Amino acid sequence: MKKFIIALFCLCSFSYAVEYDALQGKMLSLSCASCHGTDGKSTTITPYIAGMGKTIMYQTLLDYKNGKRTGTMMQKHVKGFTDAELEQISYYFSKVER
Ligand code: HEC
Repeated sequence: MKKFIIALFCLCSFSYAVEYDALQGKMLSLSCASCHGTDGKSTTITPYIAGMGKTIMYQTLLDYKNGKRTGTMMQKHVKGFTDAELEQISYYFSKVER
């Protein structure tokens, strides 16, 4: 019974579609501003991430987190966020005008 409940829980959490929470997205995105500029509009050599596609950004962030992609900073930074938070952040930047 216990296993069944755990399995059910896993199934539910997988099928749960994350809804966009604009306030949370904005709050979390502030931690990126120090390097990527306000709203991701970088004016330095750090990549310009404003308006980046949501799916591609989310996948990129997951790749950094899982070590599939490496960089100087990013893999350390993303480890502080849950996958759901990274998805909110990706939503946020995708909605910023380039
Ligand atoms: C300490 C500085 C720093 C912070 C903070 C930071 N980044 Fe980055 N980011 C970088 C650098 C530098 C790169 C280039 C790859 C590398 O060297 O890690 C990069 C690369 C990226 C890329 C890949 C861009 C591309 O076109 O390949 C994405 C997406 C990204 N960052 C998103 C974010 C998000 C979202 C946050 C906030 C959660 C964030 N970054 C916070 C420095 C930072």
